Amino acid sequence: MRVLGIETTCDETAAAVVQLRPEGGGDILSNEIMSQIAEHAAYGGVVPEIAARAHIDVIDRLVERALIHAGLRLDELDGIAAAAGPGLIGGVIVGLTTAKALALATRKPFIAVNHLEAHALTARLTDGIDFPFLLLLVSGGHTQLVAVKGVGDYVRLGSTVDDAVGEAFDKVAKMLGLPYPGGPQVEQEAEKGDALRFNFPRPMLGRAKADFSFSGLKTAVRLEAERIAPLTATDVADLCASFQAAVVDTIVDRCRAGLKLFRERIARTPQALVVAGGAAANGGIRRALLRFSGETGLKLVLPPAALCTDNGAMIAWAGIERLSLGLTDDLTFAARPRWPLDADADAAHHGKA
Ligand code: KG4
Ligand code: ZN
Repeated sequence: MRVLGIETTCDETAAAVVQLRPEGGGDILSNEIMSQIAEHAAYGGVVPEIAARAHIDVIDRLVERALIHAGLRLDELDGIAAAAGPGLIGGVIVGLTTAKALALATRKPFIAVNHLEAHALTARLTDGIDFPFLLLLVSGGHTQLVAVKGVGDYVRLGSTVDDAVGEAFDKVAKMLGLPYPGGPQVEQEAEKGDALRFNFPRPMLGRAKADFSFSGLKTAVRLEAERIAPLTATDVADLCASFQAAVVDTIVDRCRAGLKLFRERIARTPQALVVAGGAAANGGIRRALLRFSGETGLKLVLPPAALCTDNGAMIAWAGIERLSLGLTDDLTFAARPRWPLDADADAAHHGKA
């Protein structure tokens, strides 16, 4: 089984072809990506209108390249998948409409993929992990701990009550005058800095519910930066290192809470702790989670950075998972700006994804 996956929910246009392996997992036959970072950098963040237009400009070429690099013709595919949300609606519509048009023209099954589900299932593409597993999703838009029980079967154990991890990195970068996107910049600075110089708060530490909060920490960084301004290069590095250390401590503590909830509510032994989302590329976070895995004996799956950030392969793979279960979608499927993983989340969180 081979599926084309299209991703346009944020600032990356991506298209990929993935093939199911008979023994489980998948082979990525092609994985094309075009980042719009340069187009948004001047604004310090993603501008939805610019994003939507940029997706339109490149999507055709990218799909063509994905097919060429996979060595396949359209009619050799078994299905066509696109991320249908959650994300910036203008961009989502571009990828979704492209996939629908291709499905219509080729009479292939169409699969509308939840972008978060695609992040969640990536560990099954790369490592063939079995259900159920504990997922830590740390991206620019989402921060959650989720019990993944099966395709379409998720229980949210906790999520951020304010900023996402990546968002906190981006905002701290901006206040320190570092370019967008801030995550990698802050990490780079943190490597040079003293993590013990500032004792920033570790929000939510010790709470039983596996929730996150980063806005207090972000404010603490801003107040400290204002207090010691003008900032030297050393100040910036130390602020970044101390900020990242607080984020890392919080994440590990929240994983501990999530693991406890998982054991109480889902299963005694999760198959793994799976990490996904752009902030999973962070070296400090990766090292801390490795230590956590050593302590708890819980297998850790950290997909390579290129599969942690937004990409087409994860959409194609989620398409394969759904198609394997006969879960295809109608061409009337509408783009969803919000689309929580767990069905009851909307009621519980008043639609806050
Ligand atoms: O998953 P992603 O590519 O896009 C979505 O939000 O869906 O994540 C992008 C986010 C950005 O906020 C970016 O700053 C953050 O991931 N990020 C990082 C690092 N690399 C990317 N955050 C911390 N450290 C990094 N090395
Ligand atoms: Zn994402």
